Amino acid sequence: MTTLGNLEQAVSWRSGKISPTIYFDEEVYALEQERIFGATWIPVGHADMVREPSSYITNYIGEVPVIILRDPSGTVRGFVNRCRHRGNKVCLFDRGKAHSFTCSYHGWTYGLDGSLVGVPREHDLYGPDFDRRNWGLEEIPVADFKGLLFASLDKNITPFEQWLGDDTRWWLETFVLGEPVGGLEALPGWHRYQTPGNWKLMAENFIGDNYHVALTHASWLRAAAELREQGSQIPMITSPLPLRTKAPTYEVTAGYGSGCPLGIGAMRLYSDTMFERDLEEAKRLGPDVVEWLRDRQNRLDKALDGINPAPYGFVNGLLFPTLGLMGYISPMIGRHLMVFHPHGVNEHEIWQWTMVEREAPEVVKEIAVQRVYQGQHMAGVIAPDDVENFERVVEAMRAKRTWELPFNFEVHLNDDEDQLPGVPGNVGKEPSEVNQRQFYRFWLELMRREPAAQSQGGA
Ligand code: FES
Ligand code: FE
Repeated sequence: MTTLGNLEQAVSWRSGKISPTIYFDEEVYALEQERIFGATWIPVGHADMVREPSSYITNYIGEVPVIILRDPSGTVRGFVNRCRHRGNKVCLFDRGKAHSFTCSYHGWTYGLDGSLVGVPREHDLYGPDFDRRNWGLEEIPVADFKGLLFASLDKNITPFEQWLGDDTRWWLETFVLGEPVGGLEALPGWHRYQTPGNWKLMAENFIGDNYHVALTHASWLRAAAELREQGSQIPMITSPLPLRTKAPTYEVTAGYGSGCPLGIGAMRLYSDTMFERDLEEAKRLGPDVVEWLRDRQNRLDKALDGINPAPYGFVNGLLFPTLGLMGYISPMIGRHLMVFHPHGVNEHEIWQWTMVEREAPEVVKEIAVQRVYQGQHMAGVIAPDDVENFERVVEAMRAKRTWELPFNFEVHLNDDEDQLPGVPGNVGKEPSEVNQRQFYRFWLELMRREPAAQSQGGA
């Protein structure tokens, strides 16, 4: 029996056993394109990237190229980046401004509403029955959630916020996007790199694999410890980390069974130690930074009123299926959001962009960005470690013979999750693998849905 005929058995998420076939089997990959990437909301960028009317970015949903643009009336719209004539891409650039898109093959031209507005030698070659209205670009739904842009290939998909669900929405807007403290600003440009391994390896890593940090990233942790001892101010890997502060750390599991799953691998609760650490740094940067930090904390306290202890910062997370979240705990360090694009069973491409707090002083924004580049970034000290592991996973799993025995996701298999009063979702011990198990639970649910039922959206 193929993996597809036996998906239920392959994804035994309750017992923490996942068959390697779901990463390496071409048939599974093909079905994912339809039932995961063809039927969910996929992140495609940030509203700051298309701030001006007539500006656009290009991206992918699964393997489908898309154009996301702000039309002259200010509405953000999405189109499949595929010429209706014979399939060429009509937009060849990552970002820019345009009044129309002209295909480089035969010259069909499309307006920013997707309509076909120009056909070379139209009357001459096509005759009177040719109707341009039938040959516009394919439009797709787009949602703007607090600046984050999502698009879907499913025209009947559940509206975005309903798809998200209340618990996931709370975490995304309050904690990841920092709405109570003025929200985040997206810096222009993408950092992109191709990485070995199935896209799910990276997704499951971000959603909660904090188990790997001590070993995989040992060189970073050692360097950080040494630099701290020397009193170095090299950003990112020293102050305001270390990773192991006295602040309690939990894993967050939100939206499973009631919307789109979001997992945070390491969520830190507020502690005086952590705030003091940030304050210490703020003092070095000047009185306006101190004032900003105190005011920021007051606003956060107000927004999280009654929640005690309250969340303070997070390290990593994932919004299903492919939005990676990297936060690094402190407001003094930038965040980056990243999308994991599938490229066949054994390859994926990471597109990440940097976010800073919109209301932070300029000096903080500058430091925050530097720290991002030194961390989970190909020029940094963290990302290359992960890539090396994935390379070796692909190598070790090349032969089908190695697919027979399951992968293990049993960390804290039977430990009950807990709740923090006033905070939606569940929290559990960290590190745990509950988020990976829940990721595969939802993945399985979507993969088993017949196409007609997919338009119902979330769980
Ligand atoms: Fe685009 Fe022919 S493929 S004009
Ligand atoms: Fe890692």
